[in-house]
Amino acid sequence: MITGLPDIVRDLPGLRARVAAWRRAGESVAVVPTMGALHEGHLSLVRRAAADADRVIVTIFVNPRQFNSQADLDAYPRTEEADRLKLAGQGADIVYVPDGATVYPPGFATTVEVAGLSEGLCGAYRPGHFAGMATVVTKLFTQTTADLAYFGQKDFQQLCIVTRLAADLDLQIKVIGCPTLRETDGLAMSSRNTRLSAEARAVASSLYAELQRVAGRLAGGAAMSACLEDAKAAIVAGGYQAVEYLELRAEADLAVLDRPDVPARLLVAAWLDGVRLIDNIAIAAAA
Ligand code: PAF
Repeated sequence: MITGLPDIVRDLPGLRARVAAWRRAGESVAVVPTMGALHEGHLSLVRRAAADADRVIVTIFVNPRQFNSQADLDAYPRTEEADRLKLAGQGADIVYVPDGATVYPPGFATTVEVAGLSEGLCGAYRPGHFAGMATVVTKLFTQTTADLAYFGQKDFQQLCIVTRLAADLDLQIKVIGCPTLRETDGLAMSSRNTRLSAEARAVASSLYAELQRVAGRLAGGAAMSACLEDAKAAIVAGGYQAVEYLELRAEADLAVLDRPDVPARLLVAAWLDGVRLIDNIAIAAAA
């Protein structure tokens, strides 16, 4: 028998009843929003949530509104039972798995858009993605009424947008960003990694290696545009098909930077084996 398996809840009244009972007992509630296909990165968020809050809800909803193509949505892995087993003993109380109509009931007509932060970087290449993401996250926050929410820093632009929307809409929730977990060769953990062929997987970690190389060169005083152009060429030479962007942005508000004079993030999106991978690292402010 497997112990510590979370209960599956699929309907909103059922979710609300569980949360209401926790509230009556004076317990705090955390949420870890996911689209399933859980990996160790997600599990680390769940463990952190369980350390901080009395109760933890993991949501699994493959949100059609944040995909740019039907093919990408169809290809997204759906592994609900395996996900539940992976959550055993991690500290989750409930896996909330709503269907489409529970999130977007008939007549649903509201979109949450966060201006500024949603433009550029991934927003420039995935029109509508962040509006779809922000809308579903707002729904998941209001449905769960959680006090705390956990997101990985791998999706750094997403984390900034969610933090902004929670503040702008006066949502009573604290958004907490957690470090990116990496495979032993440095590749950022992602549900999309499972779609890489063995050959592609063998070269995938060059993306992170190039981010680190740029960080080292910038710390040594090298000119930023040359560093970024060299790194883009090296990523492609290393086996990636294309680099969508490689940019330095301010950590606080994603402002465009031409030198690392404030705490920053170096962010990248690139295509490998028909799979779009993203990553980023922190860059300390130059003295
Ligand atoms: O990061 C994700 O998996 C998704 O964008 C999220 C936050 C679960 C919203 O669908």
